Amino acid sequence: MIKNICCIGAGYVGGPTMAIIAQKCPGIKVTVVDLNEKRIADWNDPNVDNIPIYEPGLSAIVAEARGRNLFFSTEVDKAIDEAEMIFISVNTPTKTYGVGKGMAADLKYIELCARQIARVAKTDKIVVEKSTLPVRTASAIKSILDHTGNGVKFQILSNPEFLAEGTAVEDLLAPDRVLIGGDSNEDGQKAIQSLVNIYANWVPKEQILTTNVWSSELSKLTANAFLAQRVSSINAMSELCEKTGADVNEVARAIGMDSRIGSKFLKSSVGFGGSCFQKDILNLVYIAKSYGLNEVADYWEQVIIMNDHQKRRFAKNIIKTLYNTVSGKKIAFLGWAFKKDTNDTRESAAIYVADDLLAEQANVVVFDPKVNENQIYYDLNYLESRAEEENKKGLTVSTDPYAACKDAHAIAILTEWDEFKTYDWQKIYNQMQKPAFVFDGRNLLNKKELEQIGFVYQAIGS
Ligand code: UDX
Ligand code: ADP
Repeated sequence: MIKNICCIGAGYVGGPTMAIIAQKCPGIKVTVVDLNEKRIADWNDPNVDNIPIYEPGLSAIVAEARGRNLFFSTEVDKAIDEAEMIFISVNTPTKTYGVGKGMAADLKYIELCARQIARVAKTDKIVVEKSTLPVRTASAIKSILDHTGNGVKFQILSNPEFLAEGTAVEDLLAPDRVLIGGDSNEDGQKAIQSLVNIYANWVPKEQILTTNVWSSELSKLTANAFLAQRVSSINAMSELCEKTGADVNEVARAIGMDSRIGSKFLKSSVGFGGSCFQKDILNLVYIAKSYGLNEVADYWEQVIIMNDHQKRRFAKNIIKTLYNTVSGKKIAFLGWAFKKDTNDTRESAAIYVADDLLAEQANVVVFDPKVNENQIYYDLNYLESRAEEENKKGLTVSTDPYAACKDAHAIAILTEWDEFKTYDWQKIYNQMQKPAFVFDGRNLLNKKELEQIGFVYQAIGS
């Protein structure tokens, strides 16, 4: 029985996952470590509402387990030394340099972790890959660990995380499945079993799948590619709907009732964002190309091309509708996060739409219920499209949605936050420039209601 777990990386994956394991397994000591001191200090904030990741239900779970068997620390070596099982949940961004730039996953953080484990470990360990990794990463980790020369035995497991942000707690509590990949030899099977036993504390055994390592690694990339492909497919139809007078919501409903297609993940939008979809597909494309499978690579790359087109097309449509000029016009953004119920903004469509509008000298004002000003400027500056002062001049952040919309020529809905539906839209209308436009990138608001008030309302796909 495993009694001591450590998780390297206190991010969107490591933090929530370990909180649930600690809650469901009070007999296991769970220590989450990170190099980022501020992040760890925030996880330890006496007021649990200040933990660094916003997820519905998460703070209550942290409040229950923290200090009992859940700990957050910057002492990486100590936690590695004491643990029998080590989860690696560090980030694997797309490479920004060298071979595979813009496509392959950058594995330097993973390799650093492996080297650190190799250096510190004095007893046998099970190392679990939790971050999404390119196929065959486990063998690289194993090679580093096996050559340490201090006689310690390592087992490497792949245990990809399928939680979606915004619903992380419910996804972790009741996962569709848990996937664990490991070696087929006796030691490998024993390691798999010890991880199965942890999940079996709350997940029915039939839903815990065990496979070889490569299948597990590739399943994660495949799942994300299929999900993203559904979004790009419905978004491709959204453009055709706009031209033909069909309504993408009606089309989605009609096809979703076919049990072979299913109704989920058919919501047309301004484009998918998040840390996974784009990165994982680029990675899949890179892997396919590296095996010379050009048709496979091109097939999946089209999902990204379609998504980029959708973001660009949304911005272009705003400009065109506002009489081909947005120069000096105030455009209010409702939402900056890549989806509702999260403060994560990685790859959010809002960033790219803002960038395009700023290039046309619009005056963008952003309101998001959970994303702070620093993050918004960080995201925009990261694109390096213009000087930071220019971004500050062109875009401002408001903490009040009504103030954000006041005197605006148009409102763009970029995130589907539920609270936007409850706003006093008559009041918002009264305070705007006329004609007052709403560009709904999420099909969130009620067309009839807004048109009755007097808005010119345009939603994606209708
Ligand atoms: C995704 C996978 O769902 C999850 O299994 C994996 O572990 C990580 O990547 P996440 O990125 O957190 O999760 O959120 P998800 O709900 O999948 O949404 C991704 C993006 O697609 C968001 O920008 C969302 O708004 C968009 N989306 C999703 C749509 O535009 N339409 C849909 O129908 C569904
Ligand atoms: P994810 O969404 O995959 O969880 P995040 O970026 O939110 O990604 O979290 C990854 C975390 O891993 C970051 O907080 C980062 O500081 C941490 N990290 C990266 N490399 C190391 C390392 N070698 N040791 C400890 N923590 C690390």
